[in-house]
Amino acid sequence: LSDDLTRAESQITRHPDYPEPGVVFRDITPLLADGTSLRAVTDAMYRPFAGGFDIVAGVEARGFLLAGTIASLAGTGVLPIRKAGKLPDPAASIEYTLEYGSARIEAPGVLFPGARVLVVDDILATGGTLAASQQLVRELGGELVGTTVILELDGLGGRETVGDHVHSVFTAAL
Ligand code: PRP
Ligand code: HPA
Repeated sequence: LSDDLTRAESQITRHPDYPEPGVVFRDITPLLADGTSLRAVTDAMYRPFAGGFDIVAGVEARGFLLAGTIASLAGTGVLPIRKAGKLPDPAASIEYTLEYGSARIEAPGVLFPGARVLVVDDILATGGTLAASQQLVRELGGELVGTTVILELDGLGGRETVGDHVHSVFTAAL
């Protein structure tokens, strides 16, 4: 890893028993606040897929920040994947379970048929969020080219749930 990535990794803080007992929450906000780290991490996230996607999909809320940054680096647009109830006319809607709790996500019908989509998020835990996002992209008529995250938590089966073409910049044991 480059010095910038090594420093970025050290800026992800651990918070035992948040938001509930037994979960060790990783907080990426110190990394996001550092311009050098944000640049290094988002660059590493999309590099393996560079030139191969037309649009970047990010999941509300933290995925939005990364999708916008990567789209700007790559010169593409963004597809906001929203939590339920925020879009006037969603084209697809999927319910899924999380490491803590459950949720429903929705997306607008803005993809051109066959648009190549890179799905991004901050953390891969159980993989529920990314698997649901992939399903949404397919229902919208997009072609999924890959998924990429800052941090993969090992031991929750996330990589298996999400399937092929998952890229993570960092990995951490539970
Ligand atoms: C968190 C995180 C990922 C997801 C990872 O989001 O940002 O999207 O959970 O967990 P999974 O792999 O088990 O699905 P959360 O739903 O807490 O929403 P937020 O970004 O609005 O805080
Ligand atoms: N940190 C942040 N988001 C998460 C986590 C975590 O440890 N697990 C699932 N989503």
